[in-house]
Amino acid sequence: MKNILGNALTVTLFGESHGVAIGAVIDGIAPGVEVDREYIAAKLSLRRPSGKISTARREMDEYIIESGVYDGKTTGTPICILIPNADTHSKDYSALAGKARPGHSDYPAYCKYHGFEDARGGGHFSGRITAPIVAAGALIQAALKRKGIYIGTHISRLAGIEDAKMCPERDVSALEMVEFPVLDSEAGERMHAAILEAREDLDSVGGVLETAVVGMPAGVGEPWFDTVESVLSHALFSIPAVKGVEFGDGFALADMKGSQANDPYRVENGKIVTTTNHMGGIGGGITNGMPIVFRCALKPTPSIAKTQQTVDFVKGENTDMTINGRHDPCIVHRARAVVDAIAALTLADLLTVRYGTDWLAQ
Ligand SMILES: Cc1cc2nc3c(=O)[nH]c(=O)nc-3n(C[C@H](O)[C@H](O)[C@H](O)COP(=O)(O)O)c2cc1C
Repeated sequence: MKNILGNALTVTLFGESHGVAIGAVIDGIAPGVEVDREYIAAKLSLRRPSGKISTARREMDEYIIESGVYDGKTTGTPICILIPNADTHSKDYSALAGKARPGHSDYPAYCKYHGFEDARGGGHFSGRITAPIVAAGALIQAALKRKGIYIGTHISRLAGIEDAKMCPERDVSALEMVEFPVLDSEAGERMHAAILEAREDLDSVGGVLETAVVGMPAGVGEPWFDTVESVLSHALFSIPAVKGVEFGDGFALADMKGSQANDPYRVENGKIVTTTNHMGGIGGGITNGMPIVFRCALKPTPSIAKTQQTVDFVKGENTDMTINGRHDPCIVHRARAVVDAIAALTLADLLTVRYGTDWLAQ
């Protein structure tokens, strides 16, 4: 029943979509890490809905750091980040009480929490709960940047429309703060149009986010249960709506010959590198110094305005439902800030295990 991510550097999540506030507690952080409040606010704004391609719920995400930071630096004690909920329309959900939104958490949550769950706005399962993940992750991502580790994500596919191929070393920093992160602006316009079309059709669309991490030192990760792939995917799969994760060339490796898949090693400017990166920067569960590359598949938003078949799980009856609340016709662009945050938190945890608590501030 725990809501904690990480081993040496942990994050605990709390709150419900329509409760008083949501938040995160970071524990195990080095003392003396600079806290860049503007960077955290900028990252939160990348997750925040905007325009017609997102939900109409508008939260300012004015976060409060309640503890663990003094004079702009971490103290080394737990950091509590609180984000008040302001724009809640709980009555939108009263008609849905007892009805299972297809593709959503309502029925599984009822089975687990026996009806005591706060179902308003998706409660603890809501995409809203990703805001404190982004705040906590941004604090850590800024610290990783100071250590020369850069994380960037683009929308590699949305509603079947492909973006240009990413070159990690060239693109990662440029992507970091772009609101709708694509490399091919024409593809980006078609993606926008596809989201608006889905919305007009009372429907939703999904897509794939591709992330690269540049500057990770070689030799981080564990050979068996805490491989870099397993630790990252454990965290990435906790992002609501992520249904697939692959590293390097992922599933495509299954159709390659060894001679095509293997990344040849070379020495370049005194550094050991590989000339290709089909493995996504990981070998034997441990980083090899090349960019870590992974992709997350996000399903289309489950709450759609089309009438759907479902059940009333309290009455045990078949029924239909039409969802009238405020929902995202697409989650992909907003989830990007969450993926970056989760990557930062997870890699910082692995780095803390490898080099000790104080490393992040040194
Ligand atoms: C940033 C973000 C925003 C989301 N917004 C919505 C939304 O408006 N409506 C909705 O039904 N689901 C939304 N979701 C997805 C649901 O939270 C998610 O599908 C649901 O909790 C079930 O979890 P699962 O898809 O992982 O099984 C959002 C997810 C994220 C990451």
